Amino acid sequence: MNLRSDQWYGTGDRNAYIHRAWMRRGVPSDAFGGRPQIAIANTASDLTPCNAHHRDIAQFVKNGIWEAGGVPLELPVPSLGETQMRPTAMLWRNMAAMATEEMLRANPIDGVVLLGGCDKTIPALLMAAASVNIPAVVVPGGPMQSGTFRGRTLGCGTDVWRLSEEVRAGTLSEEEFQSSDSSMIRSAGHCNTMGTASTMGLLAEVLGAVLPGLAGTPAADARLREGAQLTGRLVVEMVQDDRRPSTLFSAGSFHNAIVALSALGGSTNAVIHLLAIAGRLEIPLSMADFDRIGSAVPLLVNLQPAGTHLMDDLYRAGGLLSVLKEVRYLLDPEALTVTGRTLDSYLDAAEVWDREIIRTADEPLLQEAGIAVLHGNLAPSGAIIKPAAATPHLLTHRGRAVVFDSVEDFAARIDDPALDVDADSVLVLRGCGPKGYPGMPEASNMPLPKKLLAQGVRDMVRVCDGRMSGTAYGTVVLHVSPESAVGGPLSLVRTGDWIVLDVPARRIDIEVADEELQRRQPSAGAAAAYAKPTRGWERLYIDHVQQADTGADLDFLIGSSGSVVARESH
Ligand code: FES
Repeated sequence: MNLRSDQWYGTGDRNAYIHRAWMRRGVPSDAFGGRPQIAIANTASDLTPCNAHHRDIAQFVKNGIWEAGGVPLELPVPSLGETQMRPTAMLWRNMAAMATEEMLRANPIDGVVLLGGCDKTIPALLMAAASVNIPAVVVPGGPMQSGTFRGRTLGCGTDVWRLSEEVRAGTLSEEEFQSSDSSMIRSAGHCNTMGTASTMGLLAEVLGAVLPGLAGTPAADARLREGAQLTGRLVVEMVQDDRRPSTLFSAGSFHNAIVALSALGGSTNAVIHLLAIAGRLEIPLSMADFDRIGSAVPLLVNLQPAGTHLMDDLYRAGGLLSVLKEVRYLLDPEALTVTGRTLDSYLDAAEVWDREIIRTADEPLLQEAGIAVLHGNLAPSGAIIKPAAATPHLLTHRGRAVVFDSVEDFAARIDDPALDVDADSVLVLRGCGPKGYPGMPEASNMPLPKKLLAQGVRDMVRVCDGRMSGTAYGTVVLHVSPESAVGGPLSLVRTGDWIVLDVPARRIDIEVADEELQRRQPSAGAAAAYAKPTRGWERLYIDHVQQADTGADLDFLIGSSGSVVARESH
């Protein structure tokens, strides 16, 4: 076996002595040289509560690695807590990916187990592993237990949006709302709706990066620990067989991920993450592929936010493989997994145990559930909408724009009784793109004006260059590219302009003549809200981040750095 780590341990010289001696600390000397050195890239952090239990999971991975003859080495990597990080965790996804990539490259590592959960952590880890291109396998940390509040199921995120709108509408007291928190967050694990964390854990398995059958196992479940131990054994085998990201992932893997995204009713954030991961692998993938492959795929999974149930229910109903079996006719049967077998080969044994949760393709929750990609003079490079989360009659709509230059402008004016807005208006929020915020926050599902909520309005067309929480719902056009901060047409919209949304025709337009648009200057208010950072990661990010339509990665991180570092450590 030709091991990368033998460049450190196998030379028999003074350098090998130094590398080995400092690492031993009670470990037998035969652990170094000729045995796979396996990193466990661990995003456990007290500030990422969704991943805090990964310390426990790591122990099971270690057991499996030892069992198979490898040497486990826990490697803490940057962790991104979705609910805590300012200005948005997305600003740090590329930093976490870059730091992980560099740590894997710099150290004597032959393979890696990636422990991720909370929204950005699995995407960042997969981007890193793809760029280093060493054998890599994900253990998704799993969703938390379901919550109930006053007899009703309470889903993470989705019900925060629902209950907070009820408070604003006056149908729920602030005290009742505040007291629901401990009913919502009951255990270790990530959000239990089909939000971004659930989506990316499941899609990591569809891509082929997870031991088949493991993704979606609840965080508290003993079977997650068993799967972690089996993954520890597996990664050693992957090193022995030289199964790397470049040999496992294919265009077919991403095709399957897009089909699954639709069937699951997954998060819109998956678009930006899959584009970024594909970019690291130099596999051609565009926003148009999401529409072409996924838009006609039926919604099969009855989970919030598109449905009513939670991740626990999906797991007991048969889990991901049972869902994939229902859309097997749409999948690429050749796509591989970390085990060396095709994903397709795991589907025969899958069974559905509850048709309330996992529907058939003949009787889906929704016939065409995929993400629609829109173009038009408001989004020349594209925008997306999730029709499954939208109000059907609003998918074709013409309304007057009510424009906000920033999240601060929005917060200051949305509940102003004098705001000239009605149910047919189109709320437009700019300054939320990758550069403009910076980091592209989940601000697109803007809260509705209080006075309209009081009238019973529960959805309006909204347009934004930011993202939307995977747990959110509404008729929201998001990821508008190019963003307003780089002079996209969104920067030229004025309150009172007519905006036309036509999802069946895949259009989002502003009814303003081209000549008039060319005469207009970008909004001064938006420019004033955009303060370009002068130092640190934010400066690097601003100078190099790409637009949402290609995955918002840094331009110099596209592709692979590889695992070769020729110079010794001196
Ligand atoms: Fe961590 Fe939702 S906040 S997954």
